[in-house]
Amino acid sequence: MIKAHGGRLVNRIPEGKERETLEALAPSLPTIRLNERELSDFEMIAVGAMSPLEGFMNREDYLSVLDLKRLAKGLPWTIPVVLSWKEGGAEIGEGEKVALLGPDDEILGVMEIEEKYSVDKSQEASKVLLTTDDAHPGVRYLDTITDSYLGGPIHMLKRPGHHRFENFRLDPRETRVLFKAKGWDTVVAFQTRNPIHRAHEYLQKCALETVDGLLVHPLVGETQKGDIPAEIRMDCYKVLFDNYYPSTRTALSIFPAAMRYAGPREAVFHALLRKNYGCSHFIVGRDHAGVGNYYGTYDAHYIFREFDRYEIDITPMFFDHSFFCKKCGNMASQKTCPHGSEDHVFLSGTKVRAMLAEGTKPPAEFTRPEVADLLMKFYQSGKE
Ligand code: ADX
Repeated sequence: MIKAHGGRLVNRIPEGKERETLEALAPSLPTIRLNERELSDFEMIAVGAMSPLEGFMNREDYLSVLDLKRLAKGLPWTIPVVLSWKEGGAEIGEGEKVALLGPDDEILGVMEIEEKYSVDKSQEASKVLLTTDDAHPGVRYLDTITDSYLGGPIHMLKRPGHHRFENFRLDPRETRVLFKAKGWDTVVAFQTRNPIHRAHEYLQKCALETVDGLLVHPLVGETQKGDIPAEIRMDCYKVLFDNYYPSTRTALSIFPAAMRYAGPREAVFHALLRKNYGCSHFIVGRDHAGVGNYYGTYDAHYIFREFDRYEIDITPMFFDHSFFCKKCGNMASQKTCPHGSEDHVFLSGTKVRAMLAEGTKPPAEFTRPEVADLLMKFYQSGKE
């Protein structure tokens, strides 16, 4: 099976004596409360989803990621994974340990603070998100944190309490066992923060034609207001799995990451993390991880050219803009369909939301009727 990024699946969950020592020490340490994004990063680092990271980034890795899209030692890595010092919190010195707290102030882990460093958040925004515009959700996130970051390895003593998707929460070690049990040598992962529409399904099934298995891996960490909540999306995914996906070839499990909306850089990040989950292939379609008009439609394809194949190792599967074509009578893409856009059924996210809000069911060529019904119910409930 494919190796983790950097060669070894990280495990930052201490056992035995080490755990006992840290558990005894933790209540006496200064504390930092993790925000929602940091909380999911913390858990993902601990279970190896962010291999080779063993903690939050030090300055050297952080700057190298910003400037070179690589960790300081040269391994490709495109998104900063950082912990911000919290205003009003304890002053923390380098070389100290801190206890990391969850939302209810329970101790979830311990971090060894190797470095405290100041950053230029607008530089981070322009390099990672390619904009400093406050309308971008990633820029808005940066406005909520301080410009002082803490770097160093973490130890997870307790998992953040999850009350959702218990049966769909597989760690990288578990997805690897699952793929082995299913006899899949090659597995394509699909990242999504949306309900699965026909275009998504088309991409997934085209990809599955050439590999052994498909992992639908929806992101359920923090997303921006306006994105459909993960609970509703999970109901949609289950409907598809029950009715249209062969159980011998497909698996559904959640990806606990927070969305960065960093377009091309996030596409590489998404791919590397799926390699850690044991996937050999990764789907990158149009405007992957994009928001608004900040990125070109295929920038998330082009960025992969900046790396050698062997460095990324997981194979990206690129797809052009896909839709249902009335003349072809099929799903197709810009690559495979000769007809004009007047024959294509494609609806923007904004258009779909407007239709759902006014009670109009999107056409079956765009979304499966069972999925449309679930989405209509959600929008009609007024909870969006
Ligand atoms: S994303 O933020 O997770 O990328 P979304 O859930 O919409 O958003 O997309 C999931 C994947 O499907 C991404 O790889 C995206 O590029 C791709 N995709 C979405 N819609 C289309 C489409 N109509 N044609 C081609 N690729 C698409």
